Amino acid sequence: MNALKDAAFKVRSNAYAPYSGFQVGAAIKSEEDKIFVGVNVENAAYPEGTCAESGAIAAMIAAGHTRIKEAYVVADCPSPVPPCGGCRQKIAEFADQDVIVTLATVDGKEAKYSVAELLPGVFTPTHMDYVS
Ligand code: THU
Repeated sequence: MNALKDAAFKVRSNAYAPYSGFQVGAAIKSEEDKIFVGVNVENAAYPEGTCAESGAIAAMIAAGHTRIKEAYVVADCPSPVPPCGGCRQKIAEFADQDVIVTLATVDGKEAKYSVAELLPGVFTPTHMDYVS
């Protein structure tokens, strides 16, 4: 039994994706071992839509947890769903470089990447160190 995987699969059916028809479920485990979930939430004003990973991160932060220990993302696609660029940056804000993100398809294909692999050359707060 993999609680993180189960949570991502279960929440996916709650995705609000009437425009793309592409439902995504995300689950993240905080360093306190609590699981937070998110789904994509689209909008008739298309750019206002949000990704599943973004929702899960917002729930974690709202609960007062600040670090991701593990993440799992699932969608119905031919190969494990790759997070968008923006979500890679959002995950990197709250996860160490060696944290594992599992990407999956609904029929069970999985691919595992570290945060460093997902976003090489990530922009971090240290890049603003020269700002006085
Ligand atoms: N989407 C996510 O929620 N996460 C991803 O990792 C990839 C894309 C959503 C955004 C949009 O609602 C739909 O999938 C199609 O792009």
